Amino acid sequence: MVSEEKIPVLREACQVAARVLEDMCQFVKAGMNTYDLDQFGKKKIAEYGAESACYQYRVRDLVFPSHTCLSVNDEVIHGIGRLDREIKDGDVVSIDVCVRYRGMIGDNARTVSIGTAKPEDERLLAVTRTALERGIAMAVAGNRVGEISHAIQSYVEKNNFNVVRDFVGHGVGETMHEDPQVPNFGRRRSGAKLVPGMAIAIEPMVNAGTHKVDMLGDGWTAVTKDHKRSAHFEHTVLITPEGPEILTQVPGVSALTEGGENAE
Ligand code: MF3
Ligand code: CO
Repeated sequence: MVSEEKIPVLREACQVAARVLEDMCQFVKAGMNTYDLDQFGKKKIAEYGAESACYQYRVRDLVFPSHTCLSVNDEVIHGIGRLDREIKDGDVVSIDVCVRYRGMIGDNARTVSIGTAKPEDERLLAVTRTALERGIAMAVAGNRVGEISHAIQSYVEKNNFNVVRDFVGHGVGETMHEDPQVPNFGRRRSGAKLVPGMAIAIEPMVNAGTHKVDMLGDGWTAVTKDHKRSAHFEHTVLITPEGPEILTQVPGVSALTEGGENAE
């Protein structure tokens, strides 16, 4: 839950996250490596007066070394910017930007095709984007989280793709991962009840093949078990009496309807 007086700050934090994501989507091109892309994100985050919520994020004895999460092809989420990870024509890159601005978090992600998109990747990206839209439409006060989960899972599976089970969406506020959990799978009328003032990150991770994932040796990067490709779209959404407010939507930038911003 976000208190009344902090909601305007949350809005600003989310707008910063959205602008950085948009800048990175415009910047990414074949031939650069994910370290360069992360450094660009780091610079933009600073320019907007924010800080990365990912950098030096700790889970037990693991410390996240990157400023944004950059996951290529079969990498699902939490990829680290790497000098030895070149982005190539035909790749898909998931860019996840989570910032802290004046004490509040904004979190959003998008997958883009680099250069010439393969038709099956275009379908994967479009289905994931629409799954997010369908989930957001259920983010209405009085509904339970399960309505969001069910809308996402049923749409994805109808399109013969699979939702990742091992990672879920989450509440957003002063910290990056708050209650409630927002799974991309599950049954209607299950989970926490949505009330005005709740801010949640809805983030379908959709695999072209099996839903199962493995972890790379770096301890962070999740990859698909069958090495087929994966896509990830995320928005931070505020529950209001008037319906869902997409906080990470920038006016004039249609993250939901385009998303396939090719570098060329
Ligand atoms: N948006 C990502 C998430 O919600 C941010 C993760 S930062 C990391 O999981 F440090 F955990 F990778
Ligand atoms: Co998130």
